[in-house]
Amino acid sequence: MTQKIIILDFGSQTTQLIGRRVRELDTFCEILPYNKFPVGDESVIGVILSGSPYSVHDPEAFQVDLSQFVGKIPVLGICYGAQFISHTNGGRVEKTDTREYGRAHLQTVDTQNALFKGFEQNSQVWMSHGDSITAIPEGFKCIASTADVKYAAYWAPSPLGMGGSEASVWAVQFHPEVFHSVQGSLLLNNFVVDICGSRQDWSAASFIDTTVAELKEQIGSDRVILGLSGGVDSSVAGVLLNKAIGKNLTCIFVDHGMLRKNEFAQVMEDYKGLGLNVIGVDASEKFFADLKGVTDPEQKRKIIGRDFVEVFNSEAKKITDARWLAQGTIYPDCIESLNITGKVIKSHHNVGGLPEEMHLQLCEPLKWLFKDEVRRVGRQLGMPEHLITRHPFPGPGLAVRILGDITPEKVRILQDADDIYIRGLREYKEKLTGEAARRVLAAGVPAQMQDGEIEVSLYDQIWQAGAVLLSTVRSVGVMGDERTYEHPVALRAVTSTDAMTADWAHLPYDFMAKVSNEIINKVHGVNRVCYDISSKPPSTIEWE
Ligand code: XMP
Repeated sequence: MTQKIIILDFGSQTTQLIGRRVRELDTFCEILPYNKFPVGDESVIGVILSGSPYSVHDPEAFQVDLSQFVGKIPVLGICYGAQFISHTNGGRVEKTDTREYGRAHLQTVDTQNALFKGFEQNSQVWMSHGDSITAIPEGFKCIASTADVKYAAYWAPSPLGMGGSEASVWAVQFHPEVFHSVQGSLLLNNFVVDICGSRQDWSAASFIDTTVAELKEQIGSDRVILGLSGGVDSSVAGVLLNKAIGKNLTCIFVDHGMLRKNEFAQVMEDYKGLGLNVIGVDASEKFFADLKGVTDPEQKRKIIGRDFVEVFNSEAKKITDARWLAQGTIYPDCIESLNITGKVIKSHHNVGGLPEEMHLQLCEPLKWLFKDEVRRVGRQLGMPEHLITRHPFPGPGLAVRILGDITPEKVRILQDADDIYIRGLREYKEKLTGEAARRVLAAGVPAQMQDGEIEVSLYDQIWQAGAVLLSTVRSVGVMGDERTYEHPVALRAVTSTDAMTADWAHLPYDFMAKVSNEIINKVHGVNRVCYDISSKPPSTIEWE
C-alpha cells in the first residue's frame, strides 16, 4: 500500500507548496479540503494542517474535528493550523502588537525534540501571521521561540487526552514549506520521515512502474486516443501510455497554424523519435479562415476552441474502436482549492467536447503529479530535455499574442520575432551561486553544482516567455535613410511556480539590447521592441 500524508487545506496560498515539499521527500501526499479527512484510510501516516487567510476568531473561520486523527497518527499544524490546535484546546490566540511578517529567527530551539533534530539556533524562518498564540493548551510544551513570539513552536507527546506518544501533535507558527525558511525542508523531513515513518519509496521510477502496471490492468487491449499539444504534460502522458499499451495508443496533434516557428514539424519528429503513434493534422487553413477579421480576444478563443474540438473529433471518430480518451491533466488542475468563502473555486476540469456516442472513458495517468514531478518522470522515461523543460504555451497559441485580427502574415512576423527571443534565452547562460543557485535547483532545473556555482540559461530560469505583436499599434522609426511606420513587439518573460501569480523577469540589459537589435534588423514589419514589466496580478501573463 502506498503510504500517504494528508494535507488539510484551510485556504492558505502555500498549501500546494507544502504538498510539493512532501513529494520532494519521495513521499506521496494528497491535499484535501479542511473538512474532508479520509477517516478509516489506513494508508495515511500523518496529517498536516495548512495556514489560512482567516483568524481563528472569525465567525466563518474553517473548523475541523481534530479527534478524527489526533492521537491516532502524527499531526503537524502550520500557522493557522497551529493556532487552531491551541484555540480549540484551551490555549489562547490573540491579536497582539507582535504581528510578524517575513523573516524571523528561532531561539531556544529544543533540538532534542524530534521535529527540530539537526536544527541550528537562530535558524531563519518565514512568518506571516496577524494573531499570536499567547498560551498553549495544557500538556503541551514550547519548543521554539522568536524574539517577538514566545510560542513559535509547541508540542505534546500524548495530547488532548488521546492516543499514545507515537501520535504526537506538533504546531509551528512559521511556514517551513517556503524557500526562506532555511531549515524548513529539514523540519518537514523530520516530520515526514522520522516521525511519520515514511519509507520514501515514491519516486519517478516507482511511479512509472506502478502506473504502467495500473494502465495495463485498466485498459487491457482497448484502444486509447490522446490529444498531444507539444507541451510537457501531454507528451509525458503519451510516452507513459505508449510504454503500457504501445500501438493501441493513437495520438492526435492538431496544428492550428499559430504554433511557434517550425514547432509542428519539430514536435512531430520528437514524437516519432519517441516511438509514438501520432497523427499530425494540419488544419491551419480552417482556423485562419474562421478567425478572419475577428479582433475580440474572447471571440478568438471561442472560435479556436470550437474549431479544435471539431478537427480533433473528426480524427478521433476515425478510430472507431477507441474506448478511452487520455489527457495530460496534472495534480494542480485537480486540487479543489478553496477561496475565502470556503467555496471550492477550482474543481476538476474536463476538456469536454468529444461526441457522446463515442462513450469514451477518461484516463488521466498524471493526475497525481506536480509539474516538477511530471518533468522528473519525463527524464526517467528518457525523453529529450528540450521537450521536458519547455515553457508552458497557451492552447490558442500565438492568436492570444497578436492584438487585433489574425492573418498568416502577422503570425509569420511574430513567429520570427519569438524565435529570435526564445533562442536568445536558451543561448544566454549565467553563473549563479548562493541563494540564487539554490532557488533554481529547488525548482528542478537540471544543472550541476560545481565549486559552489551552477551555469543556467535564462530560458531555464524563467517560467514562461514569449513575444507579443502589437499589430493594432504603429510607430515611426528610421532605418537607413528611410522612415518606417511599423508595429512594435513586446517581449514578456515571467517567473512563477504555478502561473497563478507571476513577476516579470529581470533580464540582463545586454541580453535585451542584443535581442532588440536582432529582431528589428531581421524581422520585416517590426521597428520597435518593448519589454513588459507588469506582474500578475494585476496583469495576466498573456496579453489577451
Ligand atoms: P494568464 O494569461 O491567465 O495565463 O495569466 C496563465 C497561464 O495559462 C496559460 N494560458 C492558457 N493555456 N489555454 C491554455 O491552454 C488558454 O486559453 C490559455 N490562456 C492562458 C498561459 O500561457 C499561462 O501559462
